[in-house]
Formats: sequence, C-alpha cells, structure tokens
Amino acid sequence: MPVTIDLTGRTALVTGGAGGLGFACARALADAGADVVLSDLESPRLSRAAAELGAAARPADLTDRAQAAALVDGLDRLDVLVNCAGIMRTTPLLDIEPGEWLRVVDVNLNATFWLTQAAGRRMAGQGAGSIVTLASVAARSGRPNAAHYSASKTALLSLTRSAAEALAPVRVNAVCPGVVLTPHVGGDHQRPRPPLRPRGRGGLPEGGRRALAAQAGGAARGGGGGGVVPGQRPGVVRDRPGAQRRRRTGDELT
Ligand SMILES: NC(=O)c1ccc[n+]([C@@H]2O[C@H](COP(=O)([O-])OP(=O)(O)OC[C@H]3O[C@@H](n4cnc5c(N)ncnc54)[C@H](O)[C@@H]3O)[C@@H](O)[C@H]2O)c1
Repeated sequence: MPVTIDLTGRTALVTGGAGGLGFACARALADAGADVVLSDLESPRLSRAAAELGAAARPADLTDRAQAAALVDGLDRLDVLVNCAGIMRTTPLLDIEPGEWLRVVDVNLNATFWLTQAAGRRMAGQGAGSIVTLASVAARSGRPNAAHYSASKTALLSLTRSAAEALAPVRVNAVCPGVVLTPHVGGDHQRPRPPLRPRGRGGLPEGGRRALAAQAGGAARGGGGGGVVPGQRPGVVRDRPGAQRRRRTGDELT
C-alpha cells in the first residue's frame, strides 16, 4: 500500500548528504515537502548536492562534538534527523590498525551519538520529532573483513533502542540496508554492475523510500517509540518479523 506523507513545513536534517544514500534520503524528504538541510564534510560535493535539491548546506565534521552541537543550534527548527554519515573500511580483522579501528568507530558511532544527543535534546524539548539512523545488514552478523564497521553498526542498533526509550515521544528508528552501490562501497553509481542494481544518488529503492517517509512522517503526528528495521536483501528495507508487536515501530512499512 502506498505511503503518503506530507512533511510540508517540517525541517529535515540529513547528514552524509553529499553521499549516495544521504542524497537519496534528502530527495525523498524534499519530495514529501520537507525543508531539507544537507550536512557533510565541507566539499564542493556538498554544495553541488544542496544546489541540486534546493536545500541548505551546512558543512560539519560530526566527529567533533562541538560541530555537531553547533549544527543543531544553528537550525531554526528541527523535526527530522537522518543520520547517514558513515564510513566503511575493508580490512581483515588481524590487520586492522588502531587508527583505522578508532576512525571507523568515531565516524559511525561517536558522531552519530553526538548528533543524536544534540537533536534529541531539541526534539524532546519540543515534544516531537523523528530520528532515523542508517545502520546496516552488517549490524546483524559478523564481517571478518570489516569487524570495525560491523561492530559500529551493531552498536547503533543498541543506541537506537536506548534513544527510543529515553526520548519518547520522539520517534527513534534505525534502518539496515543491504548493499547499495555508492562511493561508500566503492561503487561507481553511474555504471550498472549486475547482479547488483545500483541505486546510488539517483534515489532510494521503493522499500527504503517508504520506510524513510513513514518513519519521518511520525514527526508530523508526534508519535513516540522506536525500533529497528533490518533490510534482508540488497537495496530493500523491510520490517523485522514481529516488529508490529513493538510499540509504534516500523509497522507502516509492509
Ligand atoms: N551503500 C551501502 O551499501 C550501505 C549499506 C548499508 C548501510 N549503509 C550506510 O548508509 C550510510 C550512507 O552510506 P552511503 O553508501 O551513502 O555512503 P557515502 O560514502 O556515499 O556517503 C557517506 C557520507 O558521509 C560523509 N562523512 C564521512 N565522515 C564524515 C564526518 N566525520 N562528518 C560528516 N560527514 C561525514 C562522507 O563525506 C560521505 O558523503 C552510511 O552510514 C553507511 O554505513 C550503506
């Protein structure tokens, strides 16, 4: 069943907005009527992406807690946060150097926490809002060649559950996409590479679009609670069996 969400008058902040999924999420939110603010590391890519969407660009290195807080403080209003900023490294477990481990955890987990905390404080104060975090199918299983990535994404699921409890009625959810060809996974999203179907900057797969719109749309309704919505095959975001028994999770997503 199609999900129709109207986010007119709402402000949505999307991190990693110059990247593949961030841009696609931002476009989905803009299509739903939201005023979109794109954040990413300062680069021409960010300016180009924002210009393409007619969105505001707010550069920030989110591993810096002060920059994360300033990003939220600089917004007149904030109804939806999509945590898309992230990095992936492919290195066998025994070869991961301390610096690489720390960097992956810093960007994927710490930065997401700084921003979730800052945004959560604002949203809890206004009694409404929606936070959606991009985890990964890698959160659900080990990755012998990306143990840091997998561990950081698993930690995001736990953070999401904690934040959902702590911040209610603010909605806090995570989605767990499978592989989508973007720069993140070394994909050239201009060139199809069967058997994977590239989604890249062009847009979200329909399942992901519905998931994002439904979760972000909770902001307009002021619904509370949260949950985790793992994807099960490349490019598709699905709700977890039994998720409908949880309170106000991704039950609109089937
Ligand atoms: N592409 C996939 O197959 C896939 C699958 C599952 C989950 N994910 C997750 O989705 C999210 C987006 O992935 P993507 O494929 O669009 O990646 P991407 O590399 O295209 O985009 C990620 C963006 O994050 C930004 N970023 C990195 N470090 C940052 C920092 N310190 N501060 C602010 N921004 C920073 C990068 O500049 C980049 O634009 C990531 O969290 C990723 O782990 C991606």
